[in-house]
Amino acid sequence: MDLTFSEEQEMIRRMAREFAQDKLAPGVAERDRTGTVAREQIKELAQLGFCGIFAPPEYGGSGLDSISYVLAIEELSRVDASVGVIISVTNSLAGYPILTFGTDEQKRKFLTPLAKGEKLGAFCLTEPGAGSDAAAQSTVAVRDGDYYRVTGAKHFVTSGKYADLYVTTVVTDKTKGTKGTSSLVIEKNSPGLTVGPAEHKLGIRGSDTHAIIFDDCQVPVANLLGKEGEGMKVALSALDSGRMGIGAQALGIAQGALDASLQYVHQRQQFGQPLKNFQAIQFKLADMEMRIQAARLLLWQAALKKDRGERFTKESAMAKLFCSETAMWVTNQAVQIHGGYGFTTEYPVERSMRDAKITEIYEGTSEIQRLVIAAGLLAEWARAHG
Ligand code: CAA
Repeated sequence: MDLTFSEEQEMIRRMAREFAQDKLAPGVAERDRTGTVAREQIKELAQLGFCGIFAPPEYGGSGLDSISYVLAIEELSRVDASVGVIISVTNSLAGYPILTFGTDEQKRKFLTPLAKGEKLGAFCLTEPGAGSDAAAQSTVAVRDGDYYRVTGAKHFVTSGKYADLYVTTVVTDKTKGTKGTSSLVIEKNSPGLTVGPAEHKLGIRGSDTHAIIFDDCQVPVANLLGKEGEGMKVALSALDSGRMGIGAQALGIAQGALDASLQYVHQRQQFGQPLKNFQAIQFKLADMEMRIQAARLLLWQAALKKDRGERFTKESAMAKLFCSETAMWVTNQAVQIHGGYGFTTEYPVERSMRDAKITEIYEGTSEIQRLVIAAGLLAEWARAHG
């Protein structure tokens, strides 16, 4: 087994790292403080191809593999986790389901502008009454000639305000449970669509999170992704890819907190010597590094499996779960190493700790990831034992 990067993978990692250092680091603390989205930087990232990482060149994308994707999201999130999630969502939760389930016409119309960064994508699954229980959907789409009329509300939509299109799960047949759900691409300017007020959040404050309300919203039938009845399949397979992105985001947050800690232990003096000389600190650094490296390998395993064209549901759930728990653990250690200063906004680690928390929640909580992993494991056992 060879874990050496290809030239392309090295290149995207370097580009993301340099962009994060040069363009994201200068304003990240201020954007966190004021809850501002880095819109100009996202446009620049789009021009560099970061919004169409999976999309093939014929649809305006970079046509790169999933290792490139997780490397890019990790490097961006290492400095700015809000930009990390925005880039992850437009690639994974909007672009990827259009690429996987869309017709050629839908890919030209919706994927190409996403991949070129002319438009930003979002994903509408969660509702007030449908969080972990994604199947409890109540947003209804009723067929009316060449249109669906969509009524309902979606919650906690990342990029809700700035997105141009929303991959949205709706109920097209109430009598059929999960087989009665469908997936629609809904454009921002559709009549009957309104964006609700912004959520005020603990972390990732540089990404906007809104409700999206559909009031008899008219959506062309031509915007149906896959077939009627495949809504849950579209949403859950998009989440396989999305969870890899959140794993990468969490890993970046953890790595960023370790970077900050390494710098701090060299400069901070106590008892007449730098913190790095104390074994209590060295043990923390060692555990932080070990957990980050282990998380990275799990993430790369998921990415490699996806690129082999195999089902990677269990692997992406394991990667997301382990990376997010690592991020929470590592950022807690980072704040501890920084002592009182770590609790202030003078140092970045308090933001890392706040940003890390959501990675254990969105795109499926840690508890849901454990259910998905166990279901995959038991299915493998059943297959192996007839
Ligand atoms: N890929 C393709 N198809 C899949 C799939 C996958 N990974 N997982 C399930 N499916 C298919 C199944 O085969 C099934 O199809 P059939 O009916 O044709 O057999 C269908 O989808 C339904 O599957 P299940 O019955 O397994 O689904 P379920 O209802 O039992 O799922 C659950 C249970 C795993 C808990 C699921 O509800 C779940 O993942 N919940 C968490 C939801 C979540 O992650 N929400 C996050 C929202 S996005 C977000 O956070 C906002 C943001 O902007 C970042």
